Amino acid sequence: MQTKLTAYTPISKKNMLKVWLLFISLAPALIIGCKTNRETPVSASTPYTADKAMVVSAHPEASRIGLEILKKGGNAYDATIATQFALAVAFPVAGNIGGGGFFVNRDSDGTVGSLDYREMAPAAATETMYQDQDGKVIDNLSTAGHLAAGVPGTVDGMYAIHKKLGSLPWAELVQPAIDLARNGVVLTEKEAAGLNNTKATFLKYNKHRPYLAPERTWVAGDTLRHPDLALTLERIRDNGREGFYAGKTADLIVNEMQKGSGIITHQDLANYKAIWRQPVSGNYKNYKVISMGPPSCGGVALLQLLTMVEPYDLSKYGWQSPEEIQLMAEAERRVYADRATYLGDPDFVKVPVRKLLDKTYLKDRMSSVDLAHATASADIKAGTLPVYESEQTTHFSIVDAAGNAVSVTTTLNGAYGSKVVVEGAGFLLNNEMDDFSVKPGEPNMYGLVGGKANAITPGKRMLSSMTPTIVEKDGNLFMVVGTPGGSTIITSVYQAILNVVEHGMNMQEAVAAPRFHHQWLPDEIQHEPDAISPEVRAILQRKGYKLQERGPYGRIDAIRVLPNGKLEAGADPRGDDAAAGY
Ligand code: DON
Repeated sequence: MQTKLTAYTPISKKNMLKVWLLFISLAPALIIGCKTNRETPVSASTPYTADKAMVVSAHPEASRIGLEILKKGGNAYDATIATQFALAVAFPVAGNIGGGGFFVNRDSDGTVGSLDYREMAPAAATETMYQDQDGKVIDNLSTAGHLAAGVPGTVDGMYAIHKKLGSLPWAELVQPAIDLARNGVVLTEKEAAGLNNTKATFLKYNKHRPYLAPERTWVAGDTLRHPDLALTLERIRDNGREGFYAGKTADLIVNEMQKGSGIITHQDLANYKAIWRQPVSGNYKNYKVISMGPPSCGGVALLQLLTMVEPYDLSKYGWQSPEEIQLMAEAERRVYADRATYLGDPDFVKVPVRKLLDKTYLKDRMSSVDLAHATASADIKAGTLPVYESEQTTHFSIVDAAGNAVSVTTTLNGAYGSKVVVEGAGFLLNNEMDDFSVKPGEPNMYGLVGGKANAITPGKRMLSSMTPTIVEKDGNLFMVVGTPGGSTIITSVYQAILNVVEHGMNMQEAVAAPRFHHQWLPDEIQHEPDAISPEVRAILQRKGYKLQERGPYGRIDAIRVLPNGKLEAGADPRGDDAAAGY
C-alpha cells in the first residue's frame, strides 16, 4: 500500500499546489524589499529572500515600518514594538492596541523567552455572565459588544518588551504608527469589503457612528485615516503604558464601557500586567521547537502533535497521502480532547504540561489508532495522565541582523473584535471573553469546547490556541512561524513545519500549501478546497472519516534560515501578507 501511495503522491502534490496557487492568486503574497510594493506577487517556487534581516507580517506598511527600525539599528525587539503598533493602524481587523497576544523570542545567543500579554477577565466577571437565568448561553453576548471585551494587554506587553529587550527610544518605535494613522492607509479591495461587510454590526454595537463605518461605502483605493487613534498613540508615545492604562485613554475606555453594558473599570486597567513566562519546548528529530505555553494551549498542543507522529515516516507516506492525513488527524483528535479538559490559565489552574508532553503518554494515546478505520471522537476522551510528579488574529515573524528572532501572534479574537470602537480613542476592543468556556461543553465561536480549567474567573486569562513558534535545527535558528485562525492555528503551524521538515518544501510553498484540520469535535476533517485529492478523499471516506470542505483559513507568516545564512520568507498568499528585508 505504501508503494502505491508514494508512486502517486509527488505528482498529486505538484498538481494540487498549482491548482491551489491559482485558486488563491487573487490574494497575492507580496514582497516589498526595501520599498512598498503591493503589486509584485511572490512565486512559491522562488520565495523572497534577504541577506541579513526580515519582517513578515499581514500588511506591507507594517512590514515596511518594522524593516525601517531594523535598518536604523534597532533590534528584533524594537521592530516587534513598531510592527505591532503599525498593525493596529494598517490592519484594524486584527492588529490592535485593544487586544492582546503572545511573544516568543530566541536571542542570538540561544536564550529563549516568552511574554504573555493576553487579555484578562475584568474583576466583575463571573462564571455564568453569558448565561440567562435558566443557564442558557445568551446569543452573541460573549462575541460582540462591550461585555465581550477582556482587559487589553497589548500596550503593557509592548512596554515590557521595550524595558527588558529594547535598544532604541520608545518614542521612535511608536512614532511611525502615529504618522501612518495621520497619513492614512490605502485600502485594498479585500479591506474595503471587510469594513463594508461589518458596517451594520459596527452600527449595532456602537452608540456613536464609528469612523470605520461612515455613511458612504468604502472602495479599494480609499485612504483610511485614524485621527483619534493617532492621538491615543501620542499619549502612549509620551507616557508609555500609562498613556493607555491611566489618564485620558483609560477615561475614554471606561466611558465607552458605561455606554454599553461593559464592566472594565479604571482599576482593571491599572491592574493589567503582561507576564514573562518560560516558553514550552521539545524535540522533533534533530529540531527543537520553542513555543508559547499556557495560557495558550498552542505550544503544548503543537509539541504533543509532533511527538505523536515522530515515530512514523511521514515523508515516505507522502504529502497529504491517506496515511499521513490519518495519522495527523488522529493525533489532532486526541490532542484537542486533552485541550478541552486540561488547559487553562496556569495562574488559576494547575496545567499538567510535563505530563501532557510525556513521550510514553503520547505513544499510548496513539496506540488506539487503526489505519484501517477512523476512530470516533465519541470514543475519545481526554487521556488519563501518568502519575508522576507534577502543565481574526494576526501573526508576524522577525529576524534581525544579529540573529535575534521574534514570533508574535496578536489578536482582537474575531474580525474587528467586539466591533466596539472606543469613542474618542479610535481603537477597537477585543471580544476575547468568548475564548473562555462560557458554559461547560458549549462550543465557542471556533467550535471549541472546554470545562472547569477554562471557566471565567476575575483576573484570569482565557485559554488561547495561538502558537507563535521558533524552531532550531541542530542547535541553530531554523524557522520562525505562526498564524491566526482560531482553533486551526495549531494544526496550521504543525503542517507548515512538517511541510518543510518532512516534505522538502521551501518556506513559501509550505505556507501556501492547502491545509486540513481536525479538532476532536466536531468529528470531521475540515479541509481547504484542494488540500486532499479526490482519490485520497475516497480512501479516507471508506475508512469512516467525514470530510468537510471549507474556505481558505490561516495566514501563516514565517521565516526560514537557509544553510547559507540567508533568510527565506513565507508570506501567506491567502492575505495581503508581505515580507520586507535587507
Ligand atoms: O486566542 C485564540 O486562540 C483566538 N482568540 C484566536 C482568534 C483567531 O485566530 C482569529 N483569527 N482568525
